[in-house]
Amino acid sequence: MQHPLVKKILHTREEISLRSQAMALDVDAYYKQQKVQDNTVLVVGILKGCVPFMSELLNHVKSECEIDYMVMSSYKGGVKANANPEIVLDISTNLKGRHVLLVEDIIDSGLTLDFVKKDFYHRGAADVKIITMIDKPANRQAKITADWFGFEVEDEFLIGFGLDYEERLRNLPYVAICDTSKLKTWKW
Ligand code: IMP
Ligand code: MG
Repeated sequence: MQHPLVKKILHTREEISLRSQAMALDVDAYYKQQKVQDNTVLVVGILKGCVPFMSELLNHVKSECEIDYMVMSSYKGGVKANANPEIVLDISTNLKGRHVLLVEDIIDSGLTLDFVKKDFYHRGAADVKIITMIDKPANRQAKITADWFGFEVEDEFLIGFGLDYEERLRNLPYVAICDTSKLKTWKW
């Protein structure tokens, strides 16, 4: 049974898994052409939303890689973007000369990844690429594009497969449009 806050399921786990497999081929092809330090890509997941997608993706990536994570402040649990992203929890890896693959659940305004990408280059990264499960270009406020994206969506508030409303619903096994008409009176 689907969650009562679901208006419409957009992508099932099976679909996301298949798409991740195809994206992993593209990612591997890219890094094969690059001179990567120690032949090891640094995959950085933006917590918390990246977890289900990153797990699917990395099941298929064949390139040698290290994994790290960071937490950025963004929506603060609500439904609106934050103009001033801040690092809440930083990676523990030195970025000097590294090839970095940033993994996101969704790019909306683009403000978060714009900040992180610039910051990583300042810290000496050799190359910073972006992969996201969902691209929502309608709402873009920063000049940023994903190097690889799973699915493009309209300007809707989404839940599931890592995407939260008030920190819940990340565990839904699909990406869905949230029935926002119910949120005003919604009680957990
Ligand atoms: P951006 O900085 O506006 O691109 O937002 C990035 C972050 O906002 C994502 O990593 C998500 O955590 C959150 N976000 C953006 N759109 C949605 C959505 O539709 N549902 C849930 N979270 C979202
Ligand atoms: Mg996120």
